Amino acid sequence: MNSSFPRDLCVIGGAGHVGLPLALLCADSGLRTTIYDIDTAKLQQIRDGRMPFREDGADLLLPKVLANGRLRVEGQPESMSECRFLIMVIGTPVDEHLNPSFSAIDRVLENARPHLRDGQVLVLRSTVFPGTSRRLQRRLAEWGLDIGVACCPERVAQGHSLREFREHLGGDLTVTLLSAIGRKVEVHAIDEDRMIRAIDWLRARARTR
Ligand SMILES: NC(=O)c1ccc[n+]([C@@H]2O[C@H](COP(=O)([O-])OP(=O)(O)OC[C@H]3O[C@@H](n4cnc5c(N)ncnc54)[C@H](O)[C@@H]3O)[C@@H](O)[C@H]2O)c1
Repeated sequence: MNSSFPRDLCVIGGAGHVGLPLALLCADSGLRTTIYDIDTAKLQQIRDGRMPFREDGADLLLPKVLANGRLRVEGQPESMSECRFLIMVIGTPVDEHLNPSFSAIDRVLENARPHLRDGQVLVLRSTVFPGTSRRLQRRLAEWGLDIGVACCPERVAQGHSLREFREHLGGDLTVTLLSAIGRKVEVHAIDEDRMIRAIDWLRARARTR
């Protein structure tokens, strides 16, 4: 990928069930991929070439992308500043009243703040509450950063994510994925206000049941 960034992408929360298979496939497609995570035990396992959970095909892929240098494993947020795309797989879980919690995502962004750079693209790949991308975009703008925010949530079948990714997108997975992300950043605008109103309506209905 042509860019002024020395690395192509960082998967934030990349030692988990969603992030690690994605990072492995991106690295295997030739992208300079970094995993950033706070779970030091899992990071060490990954550095040692051992998968922290069962994932079909990953036991062979992980040592390969570590050996060819396409995958880096980092426990410090500084590594984000090198990467053009920041793919966040941290979600906004809801409580029993369907109220979302933004605390995990907010924490990640605060940690990342000193290491963010103009020209990066932040991709939300987890299932997030409507309005989350706008909320993050606003905060980044308040910090004076020119960073695009894209939302690209996908379901994965745990344990079979690698096969699913390949079958769904085919060929050069990451080029397809990232060019789709690029197009969305430029032209795609979800009417989040309408989505929020719809969710509020659903929440109100759930409470009266
Ligand atoms: N099948 C699906 O489509 C599916 C399944 C599960 C989860 N999800 C979504 O994906 C998200 C992640 O799920 P998962 O199964 O990968 O969870 P996971 O617990 O396996 O992985 C999450 C990772 O994020 C890391 N993390 C947490 N806080 C962090 C921080 N502040 N900075 C850096 N790393 C941090 C954790 O250490 C962990 O390794 C969820 O929020 C959920 O919305 C989708």
